[in-house]
Amino acid sequence: MKHNIGQKLALYPTPATVVGTVGEGGKVNWLLVAHVGIVSHSKLLLSVHSAHYSVKAIDAVKRFSVNIIDESFLAAADYTGTVSGAKVDKSGLFDYHLGEAGMPIIEQSPLAMECEVIDTYEIDGFKNYICAILGTYVEEDKLDEQGRPDYAKLKPVLFEMPTYKYLRTGDVVGDCMKLGKAFGENK
Ligand SMILES: Cc1cc2nc3c(=O)[nH]c(=O)nc-3n(C[C@H](O)[C@H](O)[C@H](O)COP(=O)(O)O)c2cc1C
Repeated sequence: MKHNIGQKLALYPTPATVVGTVGEGGKVNWLLVAHVGIVSHSKLLLSVHSAHYSVKAIDAVKRFSVNIIDESFLAAADYTGTVSGAKVDKSGLFDYHLGEAGMPIIEQSPLAMECEVIDTYEIDGFKNYICAILGTYVEEDKLDEQGRPDYAKLKPVLFEMPTYKYLRTGDVVGDCMKLGKAFGENK
C-alpha cells in the first residue's frame, strides 16, 4: 500500500554534475548542480539558483561546462556544492584544461560537455538554462567499440535530495526495446 506523502518533488535520483564557469579575468569557478535535465535530443537544462556566485559568469559568457562525476573525485565534487566562489577560491580544486569553446574540462571527469545558453526560464528564484552542446569530451577507455559513451564503465554518480545521498550506477538490467518487444510477443 502506498502512502501519499504530500506535494513532494520526488523525481530522484538525478545525475550529479560539477559545472565549470569562467568569470572576470578568466577566473574559473566550480559548483555542484544535480537539477539537470534533457529537453530535446540535442538540448539540456540546468537549474541554478539566482543567488549563486556562478550565475554572473554564466549570464555574461553564456557558456559553461558540465562534468559528470564518478566516485574517484566525489568528495572534491561535493565540496564545490558546500562553499561559494564569492567567499572561497575553488579554481584550483581540479586539474583541468580549456575545451575548444573555452570552458574548463575536469581531467578526472570521465565525460564533460561544453554548453552554450540559448534560452533562460526563471521560476521560484532559479535560472533554468536551456543549452546547446558545443562539444563532448570522453575518456577513451569509457567509449565502446563504436565510439559511444559506455555508461556501465563511466558509472555516473547520482544524487537524491530527500536524504542528501549519492548513489552508485553501473549495472545493466536490460536491453531497451528488446525487453519490451519480447514482452509484447509473449504476453
Ligand atoms: C549534491 C548537491 C546538489 C546541488 N544541486 C544544485 C542545483 O541543482 N542547483 C543549484 O542552484 N545549486 C545546487 N547545489 C548548491 C550549489 O552547488 C552551492 O550552493 C554552491 O556553493 C554554489 O556555488 P557558487 O556560489 O560558487 O556558484 C547543490 C549542492 C549539492 C551539495
